[in-house]
Amino acid sequence: MGQKGREIAKIDHKWLVKELSTAYAFEWVVHYYANIAASILSGHRTTVYSEIFKKAAEGELGHANRIAKRISELGGEPPLSMAEIEKIAGFGKVEFPKKRSDTSGYLRVFLKMEQHAIALYNDLATKTHGKDLVTHELAEDLLSEEVAEEEEYENMLKE
Ligand SMILES: [Fe+2]
Repeated sequence: MGQKGREIAKIDHKWLVKELSTAYAFEWVVHYYANIAASILSGHRTTVYSEIFKKAAEGELGHANRIAKRISELGGEPPLSMAEIEKIAGFGKVEFPKKRSDTSGYLRVFLKMEQHAIALYNDLATKTHGKDLVTHELAEDLLSEEVAEEEEYENMLKE
């Protein structure tokens, strides 16, 4: 980001890069698990759910990339190692259902992740409100997508 672009972000850039790095790392974690879920699940309607999780994985990677762009505009760098990603994502252990055909079990794992993302972007949108409009808009945008995804998972769980 150019000089003026940095000046208008009236917020501690170091703090902001840290917050964005957490979000970036978390998106990678969700990307990873959604991607692997698409490969390992089996049983009834495997192809349908495999496609759903594959799409989710792509979506979350897209979120990570948008966050990486913002981090770099602010003069920072996203975490450079996978070990760091897992650490700073701060989500803790992810446990898939024991049965590979337990579709609802997988959906509940990802529903929990969406809810974590919603809290994260809600917080970021609130804290950047009126201070850094670019990050604020990004946070709002990602928040609305995660809210929609939460609802999709909830609806699938009702099926
Ligand atoms: Fe996301």
